[in-house]
Amino acid sequence: MLNDIQEILYDAEQIQLKVKEMAQQLSEDFDGRNPLVICVLKGAFIFMADLVKNINIPLETDFMAISSYGQSTKSSGVVKIVKDLDSPVEGRDVVIVEDIIDSGLTLSYLIDVLERRNAKSVTVATLFDKPGRRTVELEADYTGFSLPDAFVVGYGLDYAERYRNLPFIGILKPDVYAP
Ligand code: PRP
Ligand code: MN
Ligand code: MG
Repeated sequence: MLNDIQEILYDAEQIQLKVKEMAQQLSEDFDGRNPLVICVLKGAFIFMADLVKNINIPLETDFMAISSYGQSTKSSGVVKIVKDLDSPVEGRDVVIVEDIIDSGLTLSYLIDVLERRNAKSVTVATLFDKPGRRTVELEADYTGFSLPDAFVVGYGLDYAERYRNLPFIGILKPDVYAP
């Protein structure tokens, strides 16, 4: 598995430090608001776990699975909910936890859904961002690292469902996906 990685961009230790920083900021900003923290499955599951472990205020968690319609490209912008939340979001301060923002389509769809359900506020926390890849205008409220436009995997991010379990984020060797 490690053989498939061309370069490690941020190692496990760097990621843990950043996650703790973000968690500390969220703890301050959401103190007394009992936020509903939403994990966008599957990619965000590792970040979600590490993040909430380090948030030291009361909060609730929920999980949502989203899939982009169509084949490999997401250009259609049509996204569907594969698994919906269990909790109502009306009147809640919602924090969406994402692993990465690429085109921005997944999140812009999700934000729209949550706003239509009358969330009191919708905040986005993403560990990684590829700002150069946006097709819709969207900026996270909390961002861990900006990444170059390369095919990255690890720490929740997959290629064909693999590599999510790597504790770091790295660039996948091109011959893995373009043999
Ligand atoms: C990935 C990633 C984000 C989304 C970002 O999810 O985890 O959720 O794509 O891309 P976008 O900004 O262009 O929408 P993916 O659809 O691969 O599902 P997964 O989380 O289950 O891997
Ligand atoms: Mn995802
Ligand atoms: Mg994926």
